[in-house]
Amino acid sequence: MLVSSKELLLDAQKNKYAVGAFNTNNLEITHAIVRAAEAQKAPILIQISAGALKYAGLEFLPMIVAKAATEASVPVAIHLDHGPSFEVVMQSLRAGFTSIMRDASKLPYEENVAEVRKVVEACHAVGVPVEAEIGKIGGAEEHVVVSEREATMSDPDECVRFVADGGFDFLAVAIGNAHGFYKGEPKLDFDRLDAIRERVDIPLVLHGASGIPDHQITEAVERGICKINIDTEIRNAFIRTIQKFVAENPDQIDPRKIFAPGIEAMQAVVEHKIEIFRSAGRA
Ligand code: G3H
Ligand code: ZN
Repeated sequence: MLVSSKELLLDAQKNKYAVGAFNTNNLEITHAIVRAAEAQKAPILIQISAGALKYAGLEFLPMIVAKAATEASVPVAIHLDHGPSFEVVMQSLRAGFTSIMRDASKLPYEENVAEVRKVVEACHAVGVPVEAEIGKIGGAEEHVVVSEREATMSDPDECVRFVADGGFDFLAVAIGNAHGFYKGEPKLDFDRLDAIRERVDIPLVLHGASGIPDHQITEAVERGICKINIDTEIRNAFIRTIQKFVAENPDQIDPRKIFAPGIEAMQAVVEHKIEIFRSAGRA
């Protein structure tokens, strides 16, 4: 069933688990995510970025995801990931998204607040919750590219100020997480997470979770992360599996047969994430 992300994340916060937020670009990825959520009886967010909207068509992809969400036996929210502008936020509301991120984290503090407040006013008017980010998460995710030098961790005091000034619903934090695969093992700054958690009472979001070892994810959930974003590991499972299948079956030209093992591989990734997020059985 199609739901708002607010009810999902508030329940996660209350009961100390995290809801998985999985990125999709197409029908196949969407099927894999929903099948995994249903198999694990877990609530989920399906995320669409501005890049995915551009690739698949502003109306096509949200329609596919909305249909999948409506028919799913588990609660599903449709979330705009890293919303780059007020314009894309408005287009997403019109397309039926039930959750919005406005990412203006690259801008100076006051401009970030101003951009977020504008979106909050519009989204809250139609009952849609908003996620915002403070600090700069390193790595590359679609149009969001932050070099190692530019990346900065979220400052706990600034988080408190940002939440009060912005009036949004969920806070994305930079605590050593980065988009894309990591060079070497990442090390989340749990002291920083604790300091933020102690002072901020809205649900906290962890981006760039692909490649973070399971034990660190579990610890992040125990310390109060309520939404965890996964994209790269899903893409990797899809494409690597397809590459292998095509190499082993060079005469196969039926896309349905080529994609099938890719969908299964993505489903396995999403099911595993749901288990370590402790959201299995929460639907
Ligand atoms: O917003 C999406 C995510 O933060 C995904 O990050 O590609 O590193 O899993 P990832
Ligand atoms: Zn992200």
